Amino acid sequence: MQDMKKTIERINELKGLHNAVILAHNYERGEIQDIADFTGDSLGLSQQAMQQEADVIVFCGVHFMAESAAILSPHKTVLLPELYAGCPMASMVTASALRKEKKKHPHAAVVCYVNSTAEVKAESDICCTSANAVEVVNSLEEEEVLFVPDRNLADYVACNTSKRIIPWSGYCPTHNQILVSDIIGAKEEHPGAEVLSHPECRREVLELSDRVFSTTGMLDHVSRSPAEEFIIATEKGILHKLEQDNPGKRFYFASEFAVCPEMKAIDIEALMFSLERRQHVISVPEDIRVKARRALDRMLAVKR
Ligand code: 13P
Ligand code: SF4
Repeated sequence: MQDMKKTIERINELKGLHNAVILAHNYERGEIQDIADFTGDSLGLSQQAMQQEADVIVFCGVHFMAESAAILSPHKTVLLPELYAGCPMASMVTASALRKEKKKHPHAAVVCYVNSTAEVKAESDICCTSANAVEVVNSLEEEEVLFVPDRNLADYVACNTSKRIIPWSGYCPTHNQILVSDIIGAKEEHPGAEVLSHPECRREVLELSDRVFSTTGMLDHVSRSPAEEFIIATEKGILHKLEQDNPGKRFYFASEFAVCPEMKAIDIEALMFSLERRQHVISVPEDIRVKARRALDRMLAVKR
């Protein structure tokens, strides 16, 4: 406990020395969320990264999130405390595979979920997050959309748009393992609870849910909802803020296994080392960055 207190003091001291700001995703460890200057979903954190005056952004999330911050804020130093914090879904599409697929669908717009590499973003017309995917797709002139890499988010969009969606085959291992039987079992145990899911879950899971949200959308909804009990179908790190913001409300996770190891890679010591040693710097080659930035900027301009 004493060590933890000292580490936190040191982090705050280093933050001042480097003029740094700490951004943390809603799935990060509780102690990381608590020390962060801002927490949020992928969309909110991208917006924060752009607005920061700080010289250094320490990104407590996974690699593609830090990369997005580096794309949007090229004059700032972006640090990812643990290099192996990558998103497996982002590795499920490569730029060369996407180039090949684009040739098969010359009239389709390419929409890329931000859970993707900078190279893939550079090959895409526009990005989206789980918070704005339907709005992004509906904002396009094209009637046909090649949607990468998440097949479940693509399917969710397909159910909520008149456009033809051509899905990629990627998926999030953490969300995809949540099954219909998990939701049915949780509903039997807690019949009065509202069921809230993330759109990275399978269609059958979403169909049994009351509402579908990004992580920040879920947090906002729970704070406003008169319901007292919730079944949550997303990564368990969100529980920290759900409980902090809603004392007295009760949360049951659809799956005990909904833990993303990459989102737990950064602990308080890794954060301190990152600030002490200015590691690991995330940067994107300028030619890729400029193209990827176009896709991110187009997304950020879409009205919600
Ligand atoms: P959000 O943008 O909803 O926070 O989700 C990011 C993510 O990685 C979900 O698995
Ligand atoms: Fe990637 Fe899934 Fe982890 Fe999100 S929860 S970072 S999509 S593996």
